[in-house]
Amino acid sequence: MDLGLANQVVVVTGASKGIGFACAAAFVREGARVALVSRSRQNLDAALARIEAGVHRPVAFVADLVDAAQSARVIDDVEAQLGPIDVLVSSAGAAKRYPPDELNANAWHDALDAKFFSYIHPLDVVVKRMAARGRGSIVNIVGAGGKTANPVHLPGGAANAALMLATVGLAAAYGPKGVRINAINPGGTLTGRVQEGLNAEARMTGLAADEILARQQARIPLQRLGTPEEIAQVTLFLASSHASYVTGAVIPMDGGAGAVI
Ligand SMILES: NC(=O)c1ccc[n+]([C@@H]2O[C@H](COP(=O)([O-])OP(=O)(O)OC[C@H]3O[C@@H](n4cnc5c(N)ncnc54)[C@H](OP(=O)(O)O)[C@@H]3O)[C@@H](O)[C@H]2O)c1
Repeated sequence: MDLGLANQVVVVTGASKGIGFACAAAFVREGARVALVSRSRQNLDAALARIEAGVHRPVAFVADLVDAAQSARVIDDVEAQLGPIDVLVSSAGAAKRYPPDELNANAWHDALDAKFFSYIHPLDVVVKRMAARGRGSIVNIVGAGGKTANPVHLPGGAANAALMLATVGLAAAYGPKGVRINAINPGGTLTGRVQEGLNAEARMTGLAADEILARQQARIPLQRLGTPEEIAQVTLFLASSHASYVTGAVIPMDGGAGAVI
């Protein structure tokens, strides 16, 4: 199926690893002009080396998106090099987990910086430019933890809940200007970060990482974690004109684990 993404200028934040990397690779396969953004030149170079060649060579840009000025600067740099942005996919950063009695003001601020502002800073710049051009599509990779409170993921969950509200509210505000904004809520998705978490839990409990993973998977109706590539497929669809009447949607991709309406 041709998604009509060829030659589109696509920015993927958090593209050096995990879900963002899978999204960047998928857009390159579709023939898009892809900009990968993360904080580390080294991680980005490693990511570029792993992406299968497409029609256009992807380009890497370094920025810490927690910083509003760096976010604005990187969007300027992408547009100067690749042209006006058609699609923004945000997948940068994740908040740390804390037992509730270890929470303090810094932990809450850090989580909002790491997960909320790292999405809002580039979005704020891009959405206004898309609106001025009368077209564009934005996909926020958020997280199911914003729907169900988990005591060890409260600041991160709060950031996710705030991102869902911002997605839906901005979609309503910018729909009349031709910009669609949607979110995907992944459940457990097997990225390097999740594998590191399994390894850490294995060291803590003495159980094998495979055994911990098997127990987690048994609780999911589809009986497994998702893959970054599966998240990327739905991201491609939402970004494309095949989803031209979809905006303000928050799509769960958790293998049925949430079981909420
Ligand atoms: N994997 C899951 O199970 C899961 C579940 C629910 C939600 N999510 C959400 O999905 C998103 C992606 O998760 P993931 O598992 O793919 O994470 P990941 O593998 O840790 O990748 C995160 C990416 O973000 C970049 N990044 C982090 N902070 C940044 C910043 N301040 N500025 C620019 N880039 C930054 C990292 O690159 P550098 O280190 O090179 O900067 C990396 O490329 C996150 O927001 C996460 O909360 C994931």
